[in-house]
Amino acid sequence: MLLIVQKGIHWLEVAVGEILLEIKGVHAGYGNLKILRGIDMKVPTGGIVTLLGGNGTGKSTLLKAISGLIPLMEGEVTFDGVSVSKLKPHERMRLGLVQVTQAKEAYPAMTVEENLVLGAYTRKDREATKADLQKVYDFFPVLRERRKQLSGTLSGGEVQMLVIGRGLMASPKMLMLDEPSAALAPKVVLEIFANINRIAKSGVTILVVEQNVRMALILAQYGYIIRDGVIMMQGEAKELISDPAVKESFLGGSVSDTTKALRN
Ligand SMILES: Nc1ncnc2c1ncn2[C@@H]1O[C@H](COP(=O)(O)OP(=O)(O)OP(=O)(O)O)[C@@H](O)[C@H]1O
Ligand SMILES: [Mg+2]
Repeated sequence: MLLIVQKGIHWLEVAVGEILLEIKGVHAGYGNLKILRGIDMKVPTGGIVTLLGGNGTGKSTLLKAISGLIPLMEGEVTFDGVSVSKLKPHERMRLGLVQVTQAKEAYPAMTVEENLVLGAYTRKDREATKADLQKVYDFFPVLRERRKQLSGTLSGGEVQMLVIGRGLMASPKMLMLDEPSAALAPKVVLEIFANINRIAKSGVTILVVEQNVRMALILAQYGYIIRDGVIMMQGEAKELISDPAVKESFLGGSVSDTTKALRN
């Protein structure tokens, strides 16, 4: 398996291109509890951006604020040139801003195909939806093989493919993933990351939250690191991966070990 991202060139290309998602001065939380305290972030069209940080620092909260699952207290979220701050989640989905649900949210008593079709619930273009189902099966041939099986019979990696596939069924311009490698064996993690890379190459912009910092920085072109609800650091992924502070906080072992593993 080869997972080499053409970072520099691609990023330079997109850096001068459009910004697909822009977050400005976002404050958000739960009830009166403020978790995010003034987040600014940009995701350019066509790239992979990763959001990193320790447990409970606000990563999932930020994704929820972007997808509209929680309201903003302050600030603005603009997607594809449209202010979406006041739109409902399904309205944002229709614009192509799609969050992949967590693996545990696959319905075990429904078949793989029924789960995938659910992902298209905001769409009315039936023919294109059917074609997209075939595209998802082309991306994940194992899901085609198992399309009539109940989701409850899938392995952890297959369920992760299923929820990513379900996100693709919404016809996203941007896909947000919250820890797609969580609780998976290292070999399966490689496969999932290779799939995310292929999805990005097919033209879907990716924002991925990860605990697997090294893998995420090898996959992405740009990274943001969040701590206590503020962005404490950001930069090109290849710079972050060799930054002493990032190394000390997040990375054990050497970068070349992981790169080697990715090529095997
Ligand atoms: N529904 C909720 N109601 C109240 N507080 C919440 C809720 N969800 C999360 N929190 C709190 O908000 C803070 C940030 O949580 P969040 O889930 O965004 O962290 P995270 O960075 O995604 O962490 P993890 O790596 O553990 O997934 C935590 O202190 C958490 O306890
Ligand atoms: Mg989280």
